[in-house]
Amino acid sequence: MSQGPDVTVLLLGSGGREHALAWKLARSPRLKNLFAAPGSDAIAAWAQNVALDPTDPAAVVSAAKDLHAKLVFIGPEAPLAAGVADALRAAGIPVFGPDRKGAQLEASKAYSKDFMGRHKIPTARWETFTDPQRARAAVEAMRLPLVIKADGLAAGKGVVICKDTNQALGTVTEFMEHGAMGSAGKTLVVERYLEGPELSALALLDGKTYKLLPYARDHKRLKDHDEGPNTGGMGACAPVAVDGPLQSAIDSVMAKILAGLRADGIDYRGVLYVGFILTKDGPQVLEFNCRFGDPEAQAVLPLLKSDLITLALACAEGKLSETEVGSLPGACVCVTLASEGYPAAPLTGRAVSGLESVKDALVFHAGTKKTEAGWTTTGGRVLGVTALGADLTEARRKAYAAVKKIHFEGMQCRSDIGGVEALSK
Ligand code: GLY
Repeated sequence: MSQGPDVTVLLLGSGGREHALAWKLARSPRLKNLFAAPGSDAIAAWAQNVALDPTDPAAVVSAAKDLHAKLVFIGPEAPLAAGVADALRAAGIPVFGPDRKGAQLEASKAYSKDFMGRHKIPTARWETFTDPQRARAAVEAMRLPLVIKADGLAAGKGVVICKDTNQALGTVTEFMEHGAMGSAGKTLVVERYLEGPELSALALLDGKTYKLLPYARDHKRLKDHDEGPNTGGMGACAPVAVDGPLQSAIDSVMAKILAGLRADGIDYRGVLYVGFILTKDGPQVLEFNCRFGDPEAQAVLPLLKSDLITLALACAEGKLSETEVGSLPGACVCVTLASEGYPAAPLTGRAVSGLESVKDALVFHAGTKKTEAGWTTTGGRVLGVTALGADLTEARRKAYAAVKKIHFEGMQCRSDIGGVEALSK
């Protein structure tokens, strides 16, 4: 049954993921009006920006009412952790995104690991510390490499893979005693390092059931061949092929997650990002995020055939089993263009040229603003140059052909996103 434009949507967020969400929402035959808070100059191509703090529950509820929003779509994690979805639900406004309790799966690594432990979800062995002395004693006794995670939200900077004991001891001191992560680092999770390729599974949930979107792969390291420091993500590709046995193993993990959410009284409605690592002992969960991955969203949403408003409302209203998730054939590759100095100290304020000559790709803006002189960089990750193709090779060729047309001083990007080598790791 085709439905006319009947839904006004308020989208929260302003980054590259939200630019991709706005692009997809704007293609919905059900969209009446699209508002974005705070949005961005790039998002303004499809939405009307609304100046408000997306982490302020009362302000979001009030704006949603004033705008007659029939759906609030929450992009980033901070509003979820701040309880914005709880406030919207209490006000009777349909919302895509879990409540504060569900958002703890991302907002607290210690909570998330306890959840995995309680519900027998395969994950690396870990210990949680609130006392730096005990943390230091434990890392001195642990096998290397090991992984140290700040408990709280740290914008992708709170995970350190430590190859030697001195690095591990230094990280404990930096996080717990020198406040390098603010309050996010006062509690630490220390876990065993697992080896294998990573897989990002994005599952839509409506409190009762789940549906998987095409699997994606993020490329987190700054440099080609997975070298250099970890970043928020230097690019992504989708779909990633998964064979029958792996799919069965993933289904079994998903069933445990769903049962765990139910047992813990979490009515999760939104997208759950399950970060898997495919070890020789089977898939293990590295992390949960309570929102679309960034840049995975940029590679997955263009492949989504289904209407995003219909899917988001189905999640919000507990009717996911009545809808289908359809994907387009082919593949999608998103290449991140980042600023000089990213991730440690990005240099911004650089003029971006060449965007108008990109014809065969989508360019999602993560950190830009429009000035009288044109587009200017404002953040670490600047653009996600994204192309669809009949297969990964074609998508990759088209994405990199578009990358060549774009320039800003000090621009950094990887040359192997979606490549065979990156995929086989
Ligand atoms: N791409 C990883 C993340 O969104 O956290």
